[in-house]
Amino acid sequence: VVLVVDFGAQYAQLIARRVREARVYSEIVPSTMPVAEMLAKNPAAIILSGGPSSVYAESAPTLDRAIFEAGVPVFGMCYGFQLMATTLGGTVDNTGAREYGRTPLSVSKPGSTLFEGTPAEQSVWMSHGDACSAAPEGFTVTASTDVVPVAAFENDAQRLYGVQYHPEVLHSTHGQQILEHFLYRGAGIAPSWTTTNVVEEQIALIREQVGTRRAICGLSGGVDSAVAAALVQRAIGDQLTCVYVDHGLMRKGETEQVEKDFVAATGVQLKVVDASERFLDALAGVSDPEEKRKIIGREFIRVFEQAQAEIVAEAGVTGEPVEFLVQGTLYPDVVESGGGTGTANIKSHHNVGGLPEDLQFQLVEPLRKLFKDEVRMVGQELGLPEEIVHRQPFPGPGLGIRIVGEVTRERLDLLREADAIAREELTAAGLDREIWQCPVVLLADVRSVGVQGDGRTYGHPVVLRPVSSEDAMTADWSRLPYDVLARISTRITNEVKDVNRVVLDVTSKPPGTIEWE
Ligand code: XMP
Repeated sequence: VVLVVDFGAQYAQLIARRVREARVYSEIVPSTMPVAEMLAKNPAAIILSGGPSSVYAESAPTLDRAIFEAGVPVFGMCYGFQLMATTLGGTVDNTGAREYGRTPLSVSKPGSTLFEGTPAEQSVWMSHGDACSAAPEGFTVTASTDVVPVAAFENDAQRLYGVQYHPEVLHSTHGQQILEHFLYRGAGIAPSWTTTNVVEEQIALIREQVGTRRAICGLSGGVDSAVAAALVQRAIGDQLTCVYVDHGLMRKGETEQVEKDFVAATGVQLKVVDASERFLDALAGVSDPEEKRKIIGREFIRVFEQAQAEIVAEAGVTGEPVEFLVQGTLYPDVVESGGGTGTANIKSHHNVGGLPEDLQFQLVEPLRKLFKDEVRMVGQELGLPEEIVHRQPFPGPGLGIRIVGEVTRERLDLLREADAIAREELTAAGLDREIWQCPVVLLADVRSVGVQGDGRTYGHPVVLRPVSSEDAMTADWSRLPYDVLARISTRITNEVKDVNRVVLDVTSKPPGTIEWE
């Protein structure tokens, strides 16, 4: 394992992903972890990330110098670089001169371990205040910028390397190459980590954890729960039962996708609960968005609990007890909740929506070391259908929060048709991977006058809401090609009864949210 020491900025996760892109397994540890504990993990190399602090700030995070003396190869980036420099006797000046953004870097030792085979002039991403003016003894300076005399250094004998910039950021044109040079040449690690290894390793771990007992898993139709379930099924077969609650608010074909395609691809034992009647009854007469969300959440928990109790009861009579709950928790959740200690209970409540307190499940979380793109690769490896593996995000409350106004069966049917057309055309235009998601919203309480054939119509508008985003926290509206928009509009107004207008939402987030409710 390569450890990425997190100094508290957003960079550690990105570095960990880049290391894995180089096919070397990596894990993030907080900089507050004692060095002895880091070394006890027997790391093949250690990377020190950037961070928001100046090494001269009073509360600046530090590291025991033992980390540089253990014989483990270390690569410091930005703050990690400055920490390495000051700890080992180099000079970092508190100049106050900031260097920020794309910066030209001059490589003075083109044959060095990190820079070999890269251009003498390259563009790098800088973000720092202090500047290193002298490398520690035994180090060779390998690059500089106009502002920083020592922008990179290395000590091959002790296998210590550092750069002032951020090689993990794409703006650093040769960043990935330099990272790989550290891993392969500096640390001598072979690029052998693949999702095939992950699958094999996880299957062994799950078997060990669950033994002959039983597990259940809630499927939402989303990528994470589907991949987690498929992996556990591969490990323990029919000891796993999945529960899928059909709340009647899914899009066209999605329930069938889980019921047929997912089961066909995995052979999983699936209990489908058709609860659409119950959800529609509970939603009758309600048009307030928050109230809708609350009702859907509440009903979901009830139905799920009931299904779960049935499975547990059956198992109690017929065989091994159900002791495990499978969840699709991902690595970013684990890192963000403090490394995964003490989070199990909160997560189970949060993810499945409130387990009964007397049911003490142990969690099986086979994806807790993976990033989203790796989860998709594992899904592919397990033979899951493309439509599931590359599914765009879809909110838990489903189409219930895409009908502005009361949710009725007729309105759901109408929106399902319009949404299916939009999705079909976006897929046909090859835009699925370009846009983050494209909600289609029915303005059920709005009507406008139109003309179709020879007659007047008085129908509803639907809104297209295509957005681009990295993480859904912020988003911009997607500039879809006009001809694609035209096809979607023509088809929806022709094919969906009672819809006579298609409008485009051109609001970013903020100020708008992605969904309308
Ligand atoms: P907003 O509308 O807040 O949405 O900009 C951000 C992202 O979250 C999704 N979303 C949900 N996902 N349960 C979910 O699982 C929900 O209640 C929910 N509400 C919004 C939304 O589709 C977008 O990707």
